[in-house]
Amino acid sequence: MFYGLSKFFKRILPKQLFYRSLIIVASPIIIMQLTISIVFFDSLWIKTNKGMTKALVNEISTFVEVYNNEKYDKQETTNLFSLYQDLNIEFIQDEKFNYNFDERWFSPIDRTLRRELKLRFGSEEFWFNTTSYKELIDLRIKHESGYFKFLVPRDRVTSSSARIFALWITLPAILVIFIAILFLKNQTRPITKLAEASERFGRGENVEEYSPSGALEIRKAGLEFERMRKRILRHLNQRSEMLSGISHDLRTPLTRIKLQLAFIKDKEITKKLSNDVDEMEKMLNEYLQFSKSSFTEKNENFNLSALIEETVRKHENQNIIINQEKDVYFNGKKNLIKRCLNNLIDNATNFGNKINVQQKKVKKNILISVEDNGPGISESEYENVLKPFYKIDKSRNQTKSSVGLGLSIASDIIRSHGGNIELGKSELGGLKIKIVLPV
Ligand SMILES: Nc1ncnc2c1ncn2[C@@H]1O[C@H](COP(=O)(O)OP(=O)(O)OP(=O)(O)O)[C@@H](O)[C@H]1O
Ligand SMILES: [Mg+2]
Repeated sequence: MFYGLSKFFKRILPKQLFYRSLIIVASPIIIMQLTISIVFFDSLWIKTNKGMTKALVNEISTFVEVYNNEKYDKQETTNLFSLYQDLNIEFIQDEKFNYNFDERWFSPIDRTLRRELKLRFGSEEFWFNTTSYKELIDLRIKHESGYFKFLVPRDRVTSSSARIFALWITLPAILVIFIAILFLKNQTRPITKLAEASERFGRGENVEEYSPSGALEIRKAGLEFERMRKRILRHLNQRSEMLSGISHDLRTPLTRIKLQLAFIKDKEITKKLSNDVDEMEKMLNEYLQFSKSSFTEKNENFNLSALIEETVRKHENQNIIINQEKDVYFNGKKNLIKRCLNNLIDNATNFGNKINVQQKKVKKNILISVEDNGPGISESEYENVLKPFYKIDKSRNQTKSSVGLGLSIASDIIRSHGGNIELGKSELGGLKIKIVLPV
């Protein structure tokens, strides 16, 4: 049961830290306010009103008693009561006394007044209206062939402090909540900033120097993030620099080997060796190009739909069908994305003769898929083909010199943009490559 309850609360409570903290601060204030208001209203205000109303009804009935007594002059009595009890009294000759009146619902004043009058005079002997005058209550009591009309000041039955009390208790509470909002905003902003910076860094965007701010713990987290970011950057740079250095340095001896091959007499050996050398050279070039562009290129906002269109058109292949959303923009390294698409389409055209390229935007992700009707890849090889220099079956693509870098470069590019690449079976029969890129 508690599990269900906590799940329910988790669902209805806001997800953001700011709103959660606000609830933690504001709810005790609001609950305390409500309790104080209810206690005050019920035990103080209503009880005071009741006492005052009782006193008023007592006075009125005293007046009626005295009025009825033949010993006293009626006019004299009326004047005395009007003067000293602040009751404006008038006797009105009217046979038809109408005791029906509209009592305001939810008005504690009306309710108390009705109760007290009913207790003293009986239910069909009185009439009142508390709203026809602003400061006065119109109250009528049946008497013989007519009725008494009393105009009683409103403050005889109610103490006006309720509204002022409500005001005084609400205003400071609103003030406190307002101050809490200001402070909480300042406290949660650094966390939001840190989350944004981590997200951008994860996506491979350039994050300018992150300056930690806020409370001590948040500042520490920010500082550690900044250190980690620098370490990762250093590590990445080192790796790429080293590899591109090696590739670059290997090119000179390779060229030398190629020259020396020309002097070997045995044509059979020369041919085999020069094939191997060509392959090595291709590997190096491929790798050098990739590491150069991943280094130097900056992020830019570009039209991904147009890029896909262009890349497919360059292949000049009638078998490729594009199915995509128009004018989808993406912020990233344009040339790398183009390279990735190129590699995938190259593979597809190498293995199949019916190729589908799809692209659509779903919420905050761009989904791209490239599929073909070729032989496909068995599931056990999905992980391997993403590794550099891995080729499944040499006999498959003997005609073209292949290096085995295409898919690994493609996956590197997608991951460095914070995206994900996945292999699967296509409905066309071959391989389907699914890419998710976060916008
Ligand atoms: N669409 C596909 N259908 C079937 N097998 C594929 C497909 N794409 C790739 N493969 C297999 O995965 C292996 C790795 O592909 P990858 O693109 O990394 O290298 P490659 O195409 O052999 O060489 P490169 O692209 O570097 O010239 C390939 O050798 C091939 O056997
Ligand atoms: Mg390839």
